[in-house]
Amino acid sequence: MKFFTVDSYEKMSRQAANIIAAQVISKPNSVLGLATGSTPIGTYARLGELCAQGDVDFSEVTTVNLDEYVGLPVENEQSYRYFMNKNLFSLINIDLAHTFVPNGCAPDIEKEVSEYDLRIERLGGIDLQLLGIGIDGHIGFNEPNDVFVKETHEVVLDPSTITANARFFEKEEDVPKKAVTMGMQAIMQAKKILMVVNGKKKEEILKKAFFGPITPQVPASILQLHPDVTVIYTEE
Ligand code: GLP
Repeated sequence: MKFFTVDSYEKMSRQAANIIAAQVISKPNSVLGLATGSTPIGTYARLGELCAQGDVDFSEVTTVNLDEYVGLPVENEQSYRYFMNKNLFSLINIDLAHTFVPNGCAPDIEKEVSEYDLRIERLGGIDLQLLGIGIDGHIGFNEPNDVFVKETHEVVLDPSTITANARFFEKEEDVPKKAVTMGMQAIMQAKKILMVVNGKKKEEILKKAFFGPITPQVPASILQLHPDVTVIYTEE
């Protein structure tokens, strides 16, 4: 594992964007696994700049996102599809038809999740998976659990996640109680993992995840078994 501590959010974002850009430059038809949350917003903005400068071309890239709330339509500003369109896809020259976010409004969620895994498999897996980490150690929306769930699946969100994500909604009651998330198989089979983490409040969970026991109670701890993980952390 490579662990970088940098002294600002700006530096974390630039470094992460450079790693993603390098991936796309060396393999133009890369499959990128993408994340939401506040942490990667700066990374996405920087990728937008790199694309506008002509340094990186996303025209052949395919993206698969980690997760989506159940019941939020794409027009809802808090849906992850809306987030991705706004914070990344509108800033780069990607073909929107090559961007995939689980559909949390699918009439048949079981069908949606199994098709999502099939899609990732048909794409040949993920070349680089960008991750954040939840305050409870979740990656995607894989919440603390008795087991690591392998496939894309529906989850009931942990109360601590609902509280943490309430800042994006008008009131806590508006936060959906369920989500759909990629499972550990697609994440762990990604060829490279890049995790961005910011804020002193994440320091403790980061230590548990990467230096504590590997346990589904700290979902990110499974990444200790991945052969190519880069973590960029800033206290800011
Ligand atoms: C959200 C997302 C995760 C993200 C995490 C951290 O709930 N599902 O993919 O990594 O929470 O979010 P933030 O970066 O805002 O702290």
